[in-house]
Amino acid sequence: MGELDGRIAIVTGAGRGIGFGIAQRLCSAGAHVVVAEFNPALGQEAVSKLSEQGYKATFHETDVRKQESAGALVDAVASRFGRLDILINNAGLATIGPTETFPLDDWNRQIDVMLNGVFLCMQAAGRVMLQQGTGVILNIASIGGLGAWPMRSAYNSAKAGVISLTENIGCEWARRGVRVVSVSPGVTRTAMLQQMVDEGIATLDKYNRRTPMGRVGEIDEITSVVQFLVSDRASYITATNVTVDGGWTAWGNLPL
Ligand SMILES: NC(=O)c1ccc[n+]([C@@H]2O[C@H](COP(=O)([O-])OP(=O)(O)OC[C@H]3O[C@@H](n4cnc5c(N)ncnc54)[C@H](O)[C@@H]3O)[C@@H](O)[C@H]2O)c1
Repeated sequence: MGELDGRIAIVTGAGRGIGFGIAQRLCSAGAHVVVAEFNPALGQEAVSKLSEQGYKATFHETDVRKQESAGALVDAVASRFGRLDILINNAGLATIGPTETFPLDDWNRQIDVMLNGVFLCMQAAGRVMLQQGTGVILNIASIGGLGAWPMRSAYNSAKAGVISLTENIGCEWARRGVRVVSVSPGVTRTAMLQQMVDEGIATLDKYNRRTPMGRVGEIDEITSVVQFLVSDRASYITATNVTVDGGWTAWGNLPL
């Protein structure tokens, strides 16, 4: 028996990276995972991989920026399974650059996916969970939401907003059976990170040196914390942010 046997979970942006890792982890604990992904090829491939491993997973094409899309996702899950136990808001993207010339489109896209999208999915899922009187929402924030990091004002503003949403809505729904938590990963080895390295925006060596543990994080080190937080073992944890960053945030004055 897995600790999430019979639970129904939605993971946004689960086509690859941390989201796919979370989907795999929740499936391995017994959940049925709905891969809510913007890119259909990635979403379908993710579900094929999960199914090949013997897991229960379904693809639902979703754009978290759109209220109708977030609503249709939750409606489809509620009508197929009759419930929704776990929502993971993971979808994201990173564009960085100097603020004085930062394109408004890039600002809007990041706020739309990583702040408005989180709000819209929480709102839609919250209606079902509050009605059930039970549920867990876990938002993937970032160390960027916890302090300054030049050239990342849009990304970091969205992530600071996610931590604030977690605290506010977590308290608002705390007496109604719905827990809300966020996880702030440090720099983690994913395609998003590799893309920044390839574009010359980041170097792995600098990230390793900046991290007190001397290395970036691995996807499994994030997903194990996520599994704990959405399980009944974390029943007294709500309206808070959990940092998983190898010490990065604590060592605040160390330059990159
Ligand atoms: N990789 C890191 O170092 C790191 C560190 C801290 C936080 N995070 C956060 O973790 C999350 C996952 O990051 P990752 O590195 O795995 O990224 P990734 O780019 O590998 O994956 C992001 C996924 O989100 C999907 N997506 C994008 N826009 C979407 C939309 N509108 N609707 C639905 N899905 C959409 C993408 O198609 C992709 O599959 C993000 O929220 C990111 O900000 C990552």
